[in-house]
Amino acid sequence: MRLLITFPLMMVIFVMGFCHVSSSTPEKKTYIVHLAKSQMPATYDHHLDWYEASLRHVSDTAKMIYTYTTAAHGYATRLTELEAESLASLPGVLTVLPETRYELHTTRTPSFLGLDHTPDAFLQSSTGSDVIIGVLDTGVWPESKSFDDTGLGPVPKTWRGTCQSGTNFSASSCNRKLIGAQYFSQGYEAVVGSFESRESKSPRDDDGHGTHTASTAAGSPVEGASLFGFAPGTARGMAPRLGWRYIRKSLLVCWTGGCFSSDILKAIDKAIEDNVNVLSLSLGGGMSDYYKDSVAIGTFAAMEHGILVSCSAGNAGPTPFSLSNVAPWITTVGAGTLDRDFPASVSTGDGKTFFGVSLFRGKSLPRIHLPIVYAGNATKVTSSTGSLCMPDSLIPEKVKDKIVLCDRGISPRVQKGAVVKEAGGIGMILANTEANGEELVADAHLLPATAVGQKSGDAIREYVVSNSKPTASILFEGTKVGVQPSPVVAAFSSRGPNGITPALLKPDMIAPGVNILAGWSEAVGPTGIATDTRRVQFNIISGTSMSCPHVSGLAGLLKGAHPDWSPAAIRSALMTTAYSTYKNGERIKDVATGKPSTPLDHGAGHVDPVSALNPGLVYDLTTDDYLGFLCALNYTPSQISSIARRSFACDSKNKYTITDFNYPSFAVSFKNPISAVNPASGPKSGPTMMKHTRSLTNVGPPGSYKVTVTSEATEVKISVEPEVLRFSKVNEKKSYTVTFTAEKMMPSDTNRFARIEWSDGKHVVGSPVAISWS
Ligand SMILES: *[C@@H]1O[C@H](CO)[C@@H](O)[C@H](O)[C@H]1NC(C)=O
Ligand SMILES: *[C@@H]1O[C@H](CO)[C@@H](O)[C@H](O)[C@H]1NC(C)=O
Repeated sequence: MRLLITFPLMMVIFVMGFCHVSSSTPEKKTYIVHLAKSQMPATYDHHLDWYEASLRHVSDTAKMIYTYTTAAHGYATRLTELEAESLASLPGVLTVLPETRYELHTTRTPSFLGLDHTPDAFLQSSTGSDVIIGVLDTGVWPESKSFDDTGLGPVPKTWRGTCQSGTNFSASSCNRKLIGAQYFSQGYEAVVGSFESRESKSPRDDDGHGTHTASTAAGSPVEGASLFGFAPGTARGMAPRLGWRYIRKSLLVCWTGGCFSSDILKAIDKAIEDNVNVLSLSLGGGMSDYYKDSVAIGTFAAMEHGILVSCSAGNAGPTPFSLSNVAPWITTVGAGTLDRDFPASVSTGDGKTFFGVSLFRGKSLPRIHLPIVYAGNATKVTSSTGSLCMPDSLIPEKVKDKIVLCDRGISPRVQKGAVVKEAGGIGMILANTEANGEELVADAHLLPATAVGQKSGDAIREYVVSNSKPTASILFEGTKVGVQPSPVVAAFSSRGPNGITPALLKPDMIAPGVNILAGWSEAVGPTGIATDTRRVQFNIISGTSMSCPHVSGLAGLLKGAHPDWSPAAIRSALMTTAYSTYKNGERIKDVATGKPSTPLDHGAGHVDPVSALNPGLVYDLTTDDYLGFLCALNYTPSQISSIARRSFACDSKNKYTITDFNYPSFAVSFKNPISAVNPASGPKSGPTMMKHTRSLTNVGPPGSYKVTVTSEATEVKISVEPEVLRFSKVNEKKSYTVTFTAEKMMPSDTNRFARIEWSDGKHVVGSPVAISWS
């Protein structure tokens, strides 16, 4: 799994490497073994004895790295492939999964979300100071002002966790804000060996990512926070006063080549035992079926314990089918922009001006036009990568005292600037190519530098290469707020359709994830690259890694206000009150296309926490509903057991369908006869009809809700029955059925969108609808 930020710190991957010197002995790998406790032979008194015996059956020497009790039943160990196969064939062993490596994928945010205006709404209706948010990440920098506990009450009585000491971290590093911290490194150590000479063996964050996500979710207010004066204001988390939080440093591994699933699963195991209310995971990995995905497995147990799990959707957008973390019991969060920007525009010698962004702070360029050269014309490299300003690729005589135009791609953005500087250049313009389009990410560059979109980049390049003495200047304008339109969907934010379960619409929603200011580790510079010796208390970075903890913090606020709400009810409240249009009625834009975004980009829309507090109605889900969902996927009993940790047989008399799964959104798929891969699973030919049933629970005052359907799908008739739902008391449930009738079949991969809204005049309970043909 990787940390889901767009920040270049992942270069460390290349420095470390995990190649095993292979000799003649068969290579061992880490496996996670899931067992069916209900099938334990009577000869064992304790399940741990049985686990041990199963391992001994295949290996005399293999050690258990972890045993899992709450998030899963089983253990992690290192085996050869043959041993793993033989273990998988033992009775009671459900699956033997090879370890996967996951990768790590805000002063202004609270007021942008409307929280500045109505924090009292949360305070009054809340016993929320007992909400505990668990963050699985790279650890925490406990000295950050974001973790100041002034004014907070005692640690919640429900808390069962610890504050684990270690390198540069003691039990006294925790307080009434940061109530605990723990690291999980055994899976990592089993692969890389001892790592203490390189990184803190403790919850201390040597990376920055974990401090940033944790302070975004629940950081205390810090006045006068900024990065080099950019984005000045009060930095605070989403749940500053109410949200108690602690951090588990499970993902120590993320900065040296990935986060190990055996460690992640153990951290979830422990978080459940510690009684957290919300789990925040800004990481993701290869997409696989839920029974093979350790995060999906572990978080199912978390859901059963009433824990809302919020995960980043991934930074693989704008490509379709690029989502991570799509299990229905996970809240999947994409990223949008704030109304804040850091302009640093370029003007060229021919009198044109181009918009750019930068967080450069330092001695600026003289405010005159300076010579500029295209890196592709000043490189030792003959291949097409010559324009990318990769290390040691520039010819010093050609760039000396010039601004260098570098193309974005492959190497970290800030490193390109360092390369220009080292070769004698005085400034850099970083041009997007097709891969990033018009998406601009502001960086704290090491020399005067700005980033421009693809169109501007192409125009500047054209000017530079077609003139004999091209010149340019960069004007750094600082922080600009009130940028419109905002939000827009970030280009990097991963997009639907959901590749694992197309019938489940994902992502669920978007939240701020571009240029977010939050706490930082003082063990590294703001850009994370080795040559950056600057140290900062706050940093501005982007990614769905940043949007996920916004939702984690908001979920904590809702949990505090409504302690009896299930995780599904909290997610429903966030989704049905999210907005997908601007105040003028236009749909939220997608920066990747410049066009209106769709539910495949933004899910239900952008979170609106103040409305979420009072959603009126919610779509609730129980563990049985999720088990029914797995039955609808035709999972085998052992696949279901490895997720649900119990034997569960789908009832052969029950007709399980995802169309009746009580999710707050709709994904409707019509199959064309020619492309029907599996004719048994859907209608053979169109036009055709589908019914989806949902149940709404009243969490507000009594009321009469009327339905409205808005649709751009002229090919599909959408009708709702009944059209009015009357609720007379709290917790009353009412069902309705939506019938989708395709009056015309469309070419495969056609998508159409609609919206279903229930309103009593005060509350609006909205659901996005995505219709596709395959
Ligand atoms: C512990 O922290 C100090 C001060 O921040 C630092 O100088 C030292 O290198 C750290 N030790 C380790 C092992 O990280
Ligand atoms: C500079 O690079 C451009 C684009 O790669 C190329 O067309 C042009 O011929 C180069 N100019 C010189 C002087 O090498």
